[in-house]
Amino acid sequence: MCGIVGYVGSQHANGRPLDVVMGGLARLEYRGYDSAGVALVTQDAGLATAKKAGKLVNLEGLLEERPLPPATAGIGHTRWATHGAPNDVNAHPHVSADGSVAVIHNGIVENFASLRAELAADGITMTSETDTEVVAHLLGAAYAATGDLAEAMRLIARRLHGTFTLLAVARDTPDLVVGTRHDSPLVVGLGEGENFLGSDVAAFIAHTREAMELGQDQVVSITPDAVTVVDFEGATVEPRRFTVDWDAAAAEKGGFASFMDKEIHDQPHAIADTLLGRTDDAGRLVLDEVRVDEAVLRQIDKIIVIACGTAAYAGQVAKYAIEHWCRIPVEVELAHEFRYRDPVVNAKTLVVAVSQSGETMDTLMAVRHAREQGATVLAIVNTHGSTIPRESDAVLYTHAGPEVAVASTKAFLAQITAAYLLGLYLAQLRGTKFPDEIAEILQDLREIPDKVQTVIDASGHVREVARSMADATSVLFLGRHVGYPVAMEGALKLKELAYIHAEGFAAGELKHGPIALIEDGQPVFIVVPSPRGRDSLHSKVISNIQEIRARGARTLVIAEEGDTDVLPFADEVFYVPRTPVLLAPLVSVVPLQIFACELATAKGLDVDQPRNLAKSVTVE
Ligand code: AGP
Repeated sequence: MCGIVGYVGSQHANGRPLDVVMGGLARLEYRGYDSAGVALVTQDAGLATAKKAGKLVNLEGLLEERPLPPATAGIGHTRWATHGAPNDVNAHPHVSADGSVAVIHNGIVENFASLRAELAADGITMTSETDTEVVAHLLGAAYAATGDLAEAMRLIARRLHGTFTLLAVARDTPDLVVGTRHDSPLVVGLGEGENFLGSDVAAFIAHTREAMELGQDQVVSITPDAVTVVDFEGATVEPRRFTVDWDAAAAEKGGFASFMDKEIHDQPHAIADTLLGRTDDAGRLVLDEVRVDEAVLRQIDKIIVIACGTAAYAGQVAKYAIEHWCRIPVEVELAHEFRYRDPVVNAKTLVVAVSQSGETMDTLMAVRHAREQGATVLAIVNTHGSTIPRESDAVLYTHAGPEVAVASTKAFLAQITAAYLLGLYLAQLRGTKFPDEIAEILQDLREIPDKVQTVIDASGHVREVARSMADATSVLFLGRHVGYPVAMEGALKLKELAYIHAEGFAAGELKHGPIALIEDGQPVFIVVPSPRGRDSLHSKVISNIQEIRARGARTLVIAEEGDTDVLPFADEVFYVPRTPVLLAPLVSVVPLQIFACELATAKGLDVDQPRNLAKSVTVE
């Protein structure tokens, strides 16, 4: 997720274009802060660009040192890296080989490798590691051929696979900014003698509340006095106009009450983006950034996942899938316990470090210990350029975008997704799964974002129950098999958001002690496995529900749609779409996330910044 801003307004030349673009980037910085950059079209018909790694303040410093000339149009970008480290060279904008156009991009171009090879064959060499630079060169060539920036954008956009919002300016058209979108947001701001573009309304809400919503596969051209939109076939489109009724702060949250709620809603994209670009044209997994020698991976005889908190629960979920697909034993270890138990680690051990921030000191120290013991370390991380991937042998990035809320949600689902990809990659490499079996599981994964969206869309019931339980003092969470780490994650969410004592445990453990906790009215969530899969587990969990219901528990059941066996014993049922057993956590955890967020909100708590917590625990 990157921040994107575009502006054109020749009557307001000189400093305004840069002021508007930089102001918009400041409001969008939560969307990405690996680097920032601007491109201006100056009045003497030239492109002027400036870009810098790090937060926006670094670009501001550069512009003070080297001011850009007066301009009439401009585009700006704050980057959340997906392809290429967060450095000056990879920062946007990227300029075409002939210097005619500058481009900024939000999203992932899945087929950039084949397009890059095409450009190399034409003698164009890349200066960066990004997919965006490929687009800039393609756009420059199309602009040279057509002399029309909007038409050039339309022609190249049709060739791109993946997700993209693109903005571009050309050195010889000072009154024009062109944009396009596919599965990535772009909105138009309508001014007087000036117009705006942004990845969301926060980019221009300080200047106008009149906006236009761009649809899928459309190309927009803005000049100071006009907005023109065509579809990818070239036909003119009349976009829907709307008036923004959010305040600036709400705009940064996309209109949601909190970043937490926004990020829960971002989860379908986080899963879809993490899957993007990970298979070749033949459908084989190609985890490019996992630069570990295949021979090393073939001789691995043990996997140890090290992580903390929610990331550790992602590892717990992945354990079931990786062991089943690869037939390699997988241990999941809390990072802060790992190195103190003198673990058995050697050259045949693959240590997988899972971390959203990539800066968790407990996990980093465990990584160092594992490498000292000769293990190969692979990081599953969300934040490009962070310390843990730098100190690992390889990295598989999640593409969840910046996670602002302290309590992790979309990163959790992206971590599980990335761990599934790793498991399938190992199965493909070691031949423990046939290609068609792997292809089927990948297709099941591609269907998950829609299933998560279904749960989000049907969350009214769980939100209502959450609000009714605002005075709860203790909630228990039960799960079995892959539902067990889901129960523990559900308990953690409630603890850290609503400050309520909560405990997750294996349903089978109930009779070995915890059932003593059950008393009249005790709320208990139960994550019920699919009745279609390992039916022995389903019937066992139904028995667990009967046991606690008979002792007065208030049973809150997460079950697969169509499962009517739970009805006689459930006080509340939250249905989720049918999902393959090993992938079910991606769907069954969502009602628990929403429950915790809604209950904490009902208590008037700050769900984005819960007390005592930090987004990244950089001390041991
Ligand atoms: C998750 O809701 C918590 N904020 C916390 O458990 C977190 O998952 C843990 O601190 C690990 O952080 P990391 O993923 O950045 O390493």
